[in-house]
Amino acid sequence: MLSVSNLSVQFGKRILFDEVNTKFVQGNCYGIIGANGAGKSTFLKILSGEQDPTSGHVHLEPGKRMSVLSQNHFAFDDIPVLEPTMKVKVF
Ligand SMILES: Nc1ncnc2c1ncn2[C@@H]1O[C@H](COP(=O)(O)OP(=O)(O)OP(=O)(O)O)[C@@H](O)[C@H]1O
Ligand SMILES: [Mg+2]
Repeated sequence: MLSVSNLSVQFGKRILFDEVNTKFVQGNCYGIIGANGAGKSTFLKILSGEQDPTSGHVHLEPGKRMSVLSQNHFAFDDIPVLEPTMKVKVF
């Protein structure tokens, strides 16, 4: 459904991801874990298209769409939870 091929991310001389290949398949539920600074947020930003990798590709199966509820604890404090949940960013 969603695949990542030869994904590399580098900040200056610092290599965060080096030729990562992985696949997310329909019907599974995934969690991304790692130490602080391991690259979880960066990886999710790349998956969602918010950030470009240094090289490599993210491929979403044709006909599928991606929705993202971004991590911002304070963005929706004043409105009922259903509203922001229904207004997720759709690519
Ligand atoms: N734009 C950037 N420029 C330089 N370094 C960056 C940039 N964005 C992220 N980094 C570095 O890349 C590494 C991964 O950051 P990221 O925020 O993805 O980690 P994380 O796993 O989400 O961490 P946390 O558990 O603290 O949320 C960190 O060392 C961070 O400092
Ligand atoms: Mg993070």
